[in-house]
Amino acid sequence: MKALVLAGGAGTRLRPLSHSTPKQLVPVAGRPVLFHALDELRAIGVREAGVIISEGRPGEQIRAAAGDGSRFGLDITYLPQDAPRGLAHCVIIAREFLADDDFVMYLGDNIFAGGLGEPLAAFRSGAPAAQLVVTKVADPSAYGIAELDAEGRVTALQEKPAVPRSDLAVTGAYFFTPRIHEAVRGILPSARGELEITDAIQWLVTRGHPVRADRFSGYWADTGTLADVLTCNKVLLDDLAGAVRGVVDRASELTGQVVVEQGAEVIGSVIDGPVIIGAGSVIEDSRVGPFTSIGSGCRLRGAGVENSILLDQASVHGVRTIQGSIIGKAGDVRRQEDGSTMHRLLVGDDSRIDVPA
Ligand code: TTP
Repeated sequence: MKALVLAGGAGTRLRPLSHSTPKQLVPVAGRPVLFHALDELRAIGVREAGVIISEGRPGEQIRAAAGDGSRFGLDITYLPQDAPRGLAHCVIIAREFLADDDFVMYLGDNIFAGGLGEPLAAFRSGAPAAQLVVTKVADPSAYGIAELDAEGRVTALQEKPAVPRSDLAVTGAYFFTPRIHEAVRGILPSARGELEITDAIQWLVTRGHPVRADRFSGYWADTGTLADVLTCNKVLLDDLAGAVRGVVDRASELTGQVVVEQGAEVIGSVIDGPVIIGAGSVIEDSRVGPFTSIGSGCRLRGAGVENSILLDQASVHGVRTIQGSIIGKAGDVRRQEDGSTMHRLLVGDDSRIDVPA
């Protein structure tokens, strides 16, 4: 079985991070979302993956990060997309790569903790034209949703419906037979100008091709927004296994699962796991955790950071109340030493800052 991994898109909801980092490379639990996805695909037996990337810099960043795929046990073929023309458009441009094989289409900003083994087994045994992975959600109008009959057959799909007829959201893993190629060519762009995969699947349903759905029992997250990224970080860190490869001095205290990567130093600090401290980072006189991922080359002195993600080279000096925050690459948060009681901010495009009341 091949995989088609979608790692293009605009990522507007993940600004400002997505201005400089494609959203699939934003780290959760210490690794880019995309790397979790590639591991997951390999775990269900995929060996060949086509990866859709945007043309230009974001695509080049993905290519540089994932390489030829060998370190994931995969053989990756990159498929550039000129603009985000929709999920079904990705299937069209991957036609030659996919040939006439069955494949799993996987949205590169999605995480399936617990694996896709079950839906794959259902796809193999039920032999439908398409197998969706669905999960119950509290706010169905924010998703593409599927209506199922008692046997798990999909009878209709609705994209972000104002009046939802089901509370089962369609997640970002789809198992397809080559029938989908006819479907993606049979649809027209939606009102937002994209070729929607929901329309292609509805095309199959309308023409009587069997489409089935399996309820996902594990944790699923679409890391489309900053809040989603933090929640996902928390859930994945829950399964962290501690390992100290760097240096922790005797004045420091580590509790719970803590990873201290090579070249990292923890000095006179309290680390309350689960926490990951990336390679070469220095944490001094600080309190970190729980649920915190610190990238590589970060500097924390006199800092307090909880339930947060710091990207590489970020630093915090003298601020002990950071919570539920994401600090971008080389972002610097520091207490002013001149006695001023005002906030002095240098805020990048599309950033957001919440200050205490
Ligand atoms: P979305 O999150 O639906 O779209 P987006 O990346 O444009 O995000 P936003 O709404 O915040 O602007 O995309 C789901 C996944 O599919 C994501 O990994 C990006 C990828 N994708 C493509 O590769 N090509 C496309 O044409 C689209 C629409 C998405």
